[in-house]
Amino acid sequence: MTDRQEAEPGQPDAPAAPGGLPRHVAIIMDGNGRWATARGLPRVEGHRRGVEALRRTLKAAREIGIEIVTIYSFSSENWSRPLAEVSALMGLLKRFIRNDLAELHEAGVRVRIAGDRHDLAPDIARLLVEAEALTAGNRRQTLVVAFNYGSRQEIANAARALAEEVAAGRRDPASITPEAIAGRLSTSGIPDPDLIIRTSGEERLSNFMLWQAAYSELVFQPILWPDYGREALLEALAEYGRRERRFGGLATATGG
Ligand code: FPP
Repeated sequence: MTDRQEAEPGQPDAPAAPGGLPRHVAIIMDGNGRWATARGLPRVEGHRRGVEALRRTLKAAREIGIEIVTIYSFSSENWSRPLAEVSALMGLLKRFIRNDLAELHEAGVRVRIAGDRHDLAPDIARLLVEAEALTAGNRRQTLVVAFNYGSRQEIANAARALAEEVAAGRRDPASITPEAIAGRLSTSGIPDPDLIIRTSGEERLSNFMLWQAAYSELVFQPILWPDYGREALLEALAEYGRRERRFGGLATATGG
């Protein structure tokens, strides 16, 4: 089935969840290495299968009607892995963009990159710019690829940019509000994730969207990322639907 034949957003298979569908789902795709090791395969094979899981999951998310999907594809800390694994991850990202960009574009997906673009290899930096430029006008879904992303670095960069404006006399310190900071993050303009999924049974955020996750629902699933797909996504969405989101207020049923 081609993407042209995909169901329209919001139609089939949306879980009958009282909380409804999240607008923005962010995913920490974890467990590739363990998946491969358990099978006696090199870790890189786990990442390769992880890309296949990503394709399945993105297709399902489009069909279900999720408006924004963010994926944690490479963290600022991932550079400390062995060189061969880092190179393999870079190669997979390049291949993913080269092979899948046309299909994503055809399916109406706008690609946004979050993360630090300084010091990236020129070919990767160019591919990221091309992916954003080609898809900038698409409206069906936004795919945020968090690449070379670290949340503390992102917040520090935002603070530095605002401090420079204050130092240059262009900004009053009183104008440094949560909105001003959010506007300087690499996710600027993208609503905060309603749901953050982490696979593989690990239960932490690992420097991912620390600012943006203030009121996100967190769902941790034991499944390893290469095994992920439509069914696991629907389970996470059903769990989200059972949550009651209060954003620091009171439950609606209490009536205040
Ligand atoms: C975590 O597994 C996953 C990563 C560090 C990278 C995620 C990358 C992919 C799914 C494929 C590449 C992405 C794109 C967009 C092409 P892990 O290695 O930490 O697994 P482990 O915890 O079992 O060792």
